[in-house]
Amino acid sequence: MIPSLGALLAGVRRSRHAIAKTTPVSALAALLFLAAATLWLLFLGPLRSPDTPSSSGGNTHGMGATACDTTLGEWVRDPAGALPHYTNATCAFIQDYQNCMKHGRPSLDFLQWRWRPDGGPGCELARFDAAHFFRLVRGKSMLFVGDSLASSHVTSLMCTLSEAETPTRRSADGFEHWRFPAHDFAVSFFWTPFQVRWRLTGGPPAAVGPDRQGEVFAGPNDLHLDEPDERWMPAAKEHDYVVVSASHWFARPAVYYRRGRAVGCHGCGNTDGNVTALPPRYAQRAAFRTVLRALAGLDGFKGTAVLRTVAPTHYANGGWFDGGECPDTQPLDRDETADMAEPEGGFYSAQLEEFRAAEEEARKNGVRLRLMDVTRIMLRRPDGHPDRHGHGAGDHGGFDVDCLHWCLPGPIDVWNELLFQIMAG
Ligand SMILES: *[C@@H]1O[C@H](CO)[C@@H](O)[C@H](O)[C@H]1NC(C)=O
Ligand SMILES: *[C@@H]1O[C@H](CO)[C@@H](O)[C@H](O)[C@H]1NC(C)=O
Repeated sequence: MIPSLGALLAGVRRSRHAIAKTTPVSALAALLFLAAATLWLLFLGPLRSPDTPSSSGGNTHGMGATACDTTLGEWVRDPAGALPHYTNATCAFIQDYQNCMKHGRPSLDFLQWRWRPDGGPGCELARFDAAHFFRLVRGKSMLFVGDSLASSHVTSLMCTLSEAETPTRRSADGFEHWRFPAHDFAVSFFWTPFQVRWRLTGGPPAAVGPDRQGEVFAGPNDLHLDEPDERWMPAAKEHDYVVVSASHWFARPAVYYRRGRAVGCHGCGNTDGNVTALPPRYAQRAAFRTVLRALAGLDGFKGTAVLRTVAPTHYANGGWFDGGECPDTQPLDRDETADMAEPEGGFYSAQLEEFRAAEEEARKNGVRLRLMDVTRIMLRRPDGHPDRHGHGAGDHGGFDVDCLHWCLPGPIDVWNELLFQIMAG
């Protein structure tokens, strides 16, 4: 279950004072959700995005002789062709923190851009077509695993498909299940910010002054870097498509385990030299290695595993709780260079490398492993976040400016087109 932002904030406020009375799930979800947002305080040093091979797009399959790279291109203004498939009036699944229309975003100009990959007409991304999509997935099912950004992708897909059929929705055992009975298609979502086995080891620290707000929600975790999470991994083989993605939370304080023994930690303070300090990137890479290899070798899984790469944040002049903002109103121009903050740049390279490393194993086992590279596309959309329009007036518990999540509808809707291209390939 993904609570609304209001519920999340309420959960956090409750949990500060009375954690024992709050249901573990809502307190945990609230805590972790906000921590994802706050971690950007800690890592705002802008660095160049990593040099990566230009053939990293997942679209070199099924494109005939032309190897198009969807990751290189530009956002072009296209008022007619880029109209959103849904609005906050046609889709009831948009959560408050994504509902930029409701919260008075001054212009809806940001909806009039379409991603045009380089390479000419043969490389254009087809506009999403719900009927076509449904023909492809009849009798199939898809599992998304990840954090609030994965949840946003699910919402975007559900809203877009609602053009053709409105899904039913129910929650069970940590999964959210969506069904389209008329088209015999099902989508499930499992919320986890790490994908490997993990456990929250501390409740929220006591409330602190404004200068340390960013730490309030950053309770530590135990991460078992070499262990797939048994809460969702067995369910993967019941699906035709599995989409994994979570990265941002690896920047939070955590103790890292291998074979059940602590091997290092990050942001863990004084450990008397017992445990080595290791960067978040180490843990994120190890977790992706574990998850991709587990999917590639999963007994009984013959479907498609998709790795969606990290979606960059766009905080400028600070972070979540200290005045950071993303006031841009346009995508970057073609000749503007995009810089990526750390640790996101490192997360992205680690994903590309671990993806390559798992390909062989996947091929051997008849698993289709595909890369859905959104990083450089989204890097060029500093205008796509809620900024100050992720909430109404009044108290939002320090949750003022959101440059991490994306407005719905918004540029994140292009992810459905990328996903479709992979599925059709
Ligand atoms: C949708 O957005 C409009 C403004 O564009 C707002 O007036 C309306 O209340 C919103 N509706 C919902 C259901 O969010
Ligand atoms: C360090 O290791 C020793 C011996 O295993 C243990 O007694 C001690 O509690 C550990 N210290 C910390 C801070 O974990």
